[in-house]
Amino acid sequence: MAFDPGNNVTDEMIDRGGHLICNGELVAFPTETVYGLGADATSDLAVAKVYAAKGRPGFNPLIVHIPNLEAASDFAELSDDATALANAFWPGPLTIILPRKTEGPISELATAGLDTVAIRCPDHPIALSLLQKCARPIVAPSANRSGHVSPTSAAHVAEDLGDELAMIIDGGPTKIGLESTVITLAAQPEILRPGAISMSEIEKVIGQIRRTSDASEQDENKIISPGQLASHYAPNAGIRLNVTNVNAGEALLAFGPNPVIHACPMINLSPDGNLIEAAANLFAGLRTLDKSGCATIAIMPIPDKGLGEAINDRLKRAAAPRKA
Ligand code: TXA
Ligand code: MG
Repeated sequence: MAFDPGNNVTDEMIDRGGHLICNGELVAFPTETVYGLGADATSDLAVAKVYAAKGRPGFNPLIVHIPNLEAASDFAELSDDATALANAFWPGPLTIILPRKTEGPISELATAGLDTVAIRCPDHPIALSLLQKCARPIVAPSANRSGHVSPTSAAHVAEDLGDELAMIIDGGPTKIGLESTVITLAAQPEILRPGAISMSEIEKVIGQIRRTSDASEQDENKIISPGQLASHYAPNAGIRLNVTNVNAGEALLAFGPNPVIHACPMINLSPDGNLIEAAANLFAGLRTLDKSGCATIAIMPIPDKGLGEAINDRLKRAAAPRKA
C-alpha cells in the first residue's frame, strides 16, 4: 500500500490513484466530509472488494460519486428537484437518491440490487480531480471497517483498512468530519440521513419535504429492512437454498469447484470458491438464470463467513415468501 505522507498531493499521485481505480483497485481519498473508500462504480468485482474490505455483514448500497450532475444522466433519472438541489449544493455534502436507469453502467452490487441510486458530487479538489482523471463514477463509502467510526484523516484510514488498499491519498484532516446529508427523491422527498446540509436549507430550494419523526441512524437501516428489499431481490423463479441435488425444471446457481450436478442452465458464482468473485457475480447470475425461464433456481451452500454472510443474507431475502 502506498501511503502518501503529508498533504503535498501531486498530479502524479492523483494520476496513479485514477489508474489504480480504473484497474479495479481500492484507493482511499479525502472528501469534505470524511475519507472515502474509492472503487470503480461500474465494476462488480471492484465493488465486491469494497464490501470485503469494510467487512460489512450485508450489502448496504453505496454512494456513487460524480464530478457533476450531467455525469449521472446515463444511469439516474434526473428530475427538476434533483437539478435544483445539485445547483444549490454541489459540489457539497448532499447525497441525492434517484430512480436508477436499469441499463446504465453502474454495478448492480453498488446499489445492492435496488432500483434507486445514490449520487453525490464532493466538494474537495482531490476528490474532484480524481473523478475527472478516472472519467468514471466512483463508489466511496466511508473508509472505515464496518462498525467503526468514519475516518477524518488518512491515519484513521490506514489504521482501519491499510492492508486492504492500493493507495491512500492524504489530503489532511477533512473539513466537515460528518457524512453527507442523504435525501431521497425516488419517493416522496425525505431525509434519510441528517448531515451538514439541513432540512430547512433543502426546503428553501424544493419546498416542504416529508418529516421523519426521528431521523437517526435507524433510518439508514429502514431501506435495507427485509420487507422493503425483498421484492427487489426476488426473481420470478422460486428459490431453493443449500441444495445437494437438482430437480427437473431447476436451474443451478453453483459455488466452488464441485457443482452438485451439471444442471442446465447453470452458473457458477466462483469455480475457485472465492467469495469476492461470488459476490461480484451474484445479482447478474440470479438475473440470467431467472431469464432462462426455469421454475426454480437451486442454490448450492455458500460458506457463511466474510462476504458469504452478505451473500447468504441476500439469498435468504430472495427466497423469502412473497406477495402474490
Ligand atoms: O459523506 C459521505 O457521504 C461519505 C463520503 C465518503 O462521500 N460517504 C458515505 O458513504 O458516508 P456510506 O456508504 O458510509 O453511507 C452511504 C449511505 C448509507 O446510509 C446508505 O444506506 C445510503 O447512503 N444509501 C446509498 N444508496 C442508497 C439508496 N439507493 N437508497 C437509500 N439509501 C442509500
Ligand atoms: Mg459509513
